[in-house]
Amino acid sequence: MLKTVATSVLRPGMFLHSLDRRWLDHPFWKNSFLLTAIDIEKIVASGITSIVIDTDRGLSSSEDGLGEPVDPFDAAGSTTQTGDGQPLGTGGTARTHLPRRPVGEEIEHAKRLFESASNEMKMVFQQARMGRAVSGASMMPLVQSIAASVMRNPYALTSVARLKHHDGYTYMHSVAVCALMTALARELELDAADVLEAGVAGLLHDLGKALMPLAVLNKPGKLSVEEFEVAKKHSYDGWQMLQSADVSDAVLEVALHHHEKVNGRGYPHGLKDKAIPLLARMGAVCDVYDAVTSDRPYKSSWHPTQALRSMASWEGQFDKTILAAFVSTVGIYPVGSLVRLESGYLAVVLDQGNGSILTPTVKTFFSCKSNQPVFPQIVDLKKSKGADRIVAIEDPKQWNLPQLNDLWLNQAGPFV
Ligand SMILES: [Fe+2]
Repeated sequence: MLKTVATSVLRPGMFLHSLDRRWLDHPFWKNSFLLTAIDIEKIVASGITSIVIDTDRGLSSSEDGLGEPVDPFDAAGSTTQTGDGQPLGTGGTARTHLPRRPVGEEIEHAKRLFESASNEMKMVFQQARMGRAVSGASMMPLVQSIAASVMRNPYALTSVARLKHHDGYTYMHSVAVCALMTALARELELDAADVLEAGVAGLLHDLGKALMPLAVLNKPGKLSVEEFEVAKKHSYDGWQMLQSADVSDAVLEVALHHHEKVNGRGYPHGLKDKAIPLLARMGAVCDVYDAVTSDRPYKSSWHPTQALRSMASWEGQFDKTILAAFVSTVGIYPVGSLVRLESGYLAVVLDQGNGSILTPTVKTFFSCKSNQPVFPQIVDLKKSKGADRIVAIEDPKQWNLPQLNDLWLNQAGPFV
């Protein structure tokens, strides 16, 4: 169905049928296509106020079509969804329709890659600490391996990377941000060279921490005001250390500006909005998401959905277009999420890649009705055609589930 909608309610995954101006007067080389976050940014920047979308070929808009801008978490409540179990603005993206390898087939490789990449980054940081120059070119094989895993499946490595142990957090965080940056760059449909550049930037964004006093870097608690001032130096130090490395200006900018905020209250320069380079705005989102979803000695991790919801509520911190693309990247039900089904079972999300991010593949393992574990079964909620559905996202901390991660890390189990 064709529908005219305001550009303020556009979201990735809508299908552009036509623009209200001549082909020569708008920023695209074709008139109809599936919208990405970057396309929407271009449409808004070009002053176009409304477009015609085709809801048969892409996502629809909010019910009245010309309502408020879509907040992906508006309808999700605190931990429960709306009556129909469908968070607003989450009908799927173009990316989810791309052919790719299932999480279960990529996850073993992703586990090994995450471990070896973290060890490699440990050596990079150790060399930097000793004053040895870092080589951007030498990072490329590692970035290519990470990008290749993300292209095969964007959820496997980014989910495994949440499971950090306390020893070596900085190195694992670097690899995690690299994986998230390449996945986000792919979501934003940057070209292949830019995806790799985003990956290099993710790996090296915190290199300046190699110069941070270990008492501050490894402090198992909140930093004092003075310690925080010392910690803030890492972005400038990283930029300085990378001057002699063979990396692009964009990689240098991420090291320097990944703690800037779009409201100008970040550091080190207090840059605002688009004055913050694109990759640095992407880095800010990936950096914070990975930090808050990781266990640290002084705080336990946030659930991914809780992290995304909180980040969306921090007005002025992130570029909203990039954050929306990031939500599409990691999904509304990230792999490893604990959910409750209408049937009364608790389940863990195994994969989101079956064509709709609202109907992931899950593994049931506990009956809330009998309050007892059940034999695990894998359920593709899309194939179940409404026989069962997600009615709530659950906080794992409210349940005693020490084996929860094993349930999605080891994906074998009977299909129903
Ligand atoms: Fe940082």
